[in-house]
Amino acid sequence: MFLKVENLKKSYNTGDVTTTVLKGAGISLEKREIGVILGPSGSGKSTLLNIIGGIDRCDSGIVLVGDMDITKLNDNKLTDYRRENIGFIFQFYNLIPNLTVGENIEVVSNISKSPLNIDEVLKAVNMFDKKHRFPRELSGGEQQRVSIARAIVKNPTLLLCDEPTGALDFSTSREILKLLQKVNEEFGTTILMITHNTAISAMANKVYRVRSGEIVESIVNSIAVPAERIEW
Ligand SMILES: Nc1ncnc2c1ncn2[C@@H]1O[C@H](COP(=O)(O)OP(=O)(O)OP(=O)(O)O)[C@@H](O)[C@H]1O
Ligand SMILES: [Mg+2]
Repeated sequence: MFLKVENLKKSYNTGDVTTTVLKGAGISLEKREIGVILGPSGSGKSTLLNIIGGIDRCDSGIVLVGDMDITKLNDNKLTDYRRENIGFIFQFYNLIPNLTVGENIEVVSNISKSPLNIDEVLKAVNMFDKKHRFPRELSGGEQQRVSIARAIVKNPTLLLCDEPTGALDFSTSREILKLLQKVNEEFGTTILMITHNTAISAMANKVYRVRSGEIVESIVNSIAVPAERIEW
């Protein structure tokens, strides 16, 4: 297994109220697999993804990535892990507004050990001709393609996507999903994606349904459907 999460627990304390968000969640993915996480709002999906990505910490449990248990890393080592291994894609793109498309990607490329060529990555997401534009001059789908370029330029082993199509219309969403599938095939990137859209789970190798901090269902798809055949 490339990614193995076991018995993951997490609570948040706000004032004198403790909210238990993850109650022993577990998932696993082989290298090059696509996993989808489904579940209602507030069920703990983003918390789970953020802990796997090293931007949040669990209270107990195991998160094995390769052969490293990242829950055991100190803050510096966790930062290295995140920088070297993880690409993040969010619903609202999170591009830096006063940097051009090319510069947004350069920021990540500059701090990576073995970055891919920026122009090649821009061509892969079909945004090379808009390299000198600013984010505000782009459509939502174009901005998301840039954020995918930014996530993959460091050649991450694991790409974590938190509702990457949540703000997009049907046809733009499908373009983004096709692009993620292409990244998975061409670069061998393992992908874990949160979505509210059950139809999207057809393109995954594994589907996990979260409810109240627990995995209540896990499905293995024998065939992952090409994104262009998904309808909703
Ligand atoms: N930093 C925090 N402090 C306190 N509570 C938090 C914090 N982050 C998340 N929570 C709580 O944990 C629960 C799970 O949040 P999470 O963001 O993981 O849900 P989600 O499944 O991603 O929901 P959505 O589909 O709405 O994005 C929620 O009740 C939320 O209020
Ligand atoms: Mg969320």
